Amino acid sequence: MSKFIIEESPCLKGKTRVSGSKNAALPILAASLMARKKCVIRDVPALTDIFVMQNIIESLGGKTEWDKKTETMSVIAPDAGRLDADYELISKIRASFLILGPLLARFKKVRTVLPGGCAIGSRPVDLHLKGLAALGAEIELEHGYVTATAKRLSGVEIYLDFPSVGATENILMAAALADGQSVIRNCALEPEITDLANFLVSIGADISGAGTDTITVNGVESLRGGEYTIIPDRIEAGTFMAAACARPGGDIVLENAVTEHLRPVIAKLREMGAEISDNNGMMRVQSPDAGLRSTDIKTLPYPGFPTDMQAQLLALLSMARGRGTVVETVFENRFMHAAEMKRMGADIKVESRTAAVNGVDRLTGCHLKATDLRAGAALIVAALGASGQTEISDIYHMERGYDRIDEKLRQLGARIIRVE
Ligand code: EPZ
Repeated sequence: MSKFIIEESPCLKGKTRVSGSKNAALPILAASLMARKKCVIRDVPALTDIFVMQNIIESLGGKTEWDKKTETMSVIAPDAGRLDADYELISKIRASFLILGPLLARFKKVRTVLPGGCAIGSRPVDLHLKGLAALGAEIELEHGYVTATAKRLSGVEIYLDFPSVGATENILMAAALADGQSVIRNCALEPEITDLANFLVSIGADISGAGTDTITVNGVESLRGGEYTIIPDRIEAGTFMAAACARPGGDIVLENAVTEHLRPVIAKLREMGAEISDNNGMMRVQSPDAGLRSTDIKTLPYPGFPTDMQAQLLALLSMARGRGTVVETVFENRFMHAAEMKRMGADIKVESRTAAVNGVDRLTGCHLKATDLRAGAALIVAALGASGQTEISDIYHMERGYDRIDEKLRQLGARIIRVE
């Protein structure tokens, strides 16, 4: 099993480039299953989750090509639907559930694995199924599988009880090939939703309102192929911004970072004393020489503070002056990283969905275990601010969502190595 070893590092300096977004690439690759012609997707990050989605498309009869040098993936969708998705493959990533909408819309019948919970929460998919049923699908749940069939899908008005990212994506994709108009209300506003909608429009869909709480879709007969470039990964960018603030005097530039997508993260880091400026897509992050001061954070759906940045900011709060609180409103079990940080000497009290943090002068390096993707990233941030050596195991979690994170951090002066 691989692990990261992080020695006591100087404050980060220099420039690195943000990769394409994992959470935009996954639904866009799933959506390419609806296209009648080849789709060429650019700036696709080289992540284990992406390659699992690639294998899923191949297992469904699709053809794919991956060009490592240009980070381009091309997909030719199957002409006929294959009913049975491979359990081992599909259950590797939750995002595989995003094939449901596209395959139902294109082939009118799909059977796939009903995802279970994960480390951060029970993560039901009731809103996905409710939305697809409203469009006219018959939904059957049996033996851990969901089977969705439909003679035809018809446009309808759908109100989401919660602005779920995944449910918005599955319903949006299915509605793109339904008869007539669909209106999705209280939908998710994340930039990844807008990117998915823009991709669908680029291959012939008729969608408006993405990025607002109401999306209107006029179904079309079919979708062609095309070329599309994925948006940058705002969570990877946010993680590097936090890493730059792990020690006083950090000063980094992030290439290919979209300030607009990072407003809540920028606001919180500024409250903690960081200086953040943007110069034509080059984001500069400077951490205060006097060290960080604490603040309070509450995660919310976009444009609120992203839950996927909660752990990284908790790491910074544990090294900041003063007392702060973190309230996690999106997932019910997303403080696993707090226990690991306490082993480094952090003063964190977790009660239900709230963590109260008293900043300490210095965390101390030790053996740590990554419990999920973002928790792992947060442990790297904590280690970059700690004294002594830190060892992080189970880093496979991070390879799901960070492309060469150790290499990029070394570019910025971090003393991190990966040990097989
Ligand atoms: C997406 O997950 C992201 N994953 C997650 O990123 C991210 O944390 C999450 O959105 C929130 O921003 C991808 O895009 C692949 P949701 P998703 O549906 O779609 C409840 C990462 O680290 N809910 O918006 O699964 C659910 O339980 C990952 O990259 C229902 O109750 O998130 C949760 O509490 C982790 N019923 C809340 O809504 C449903 O049918 C938000 O879930 C669907 C969701």
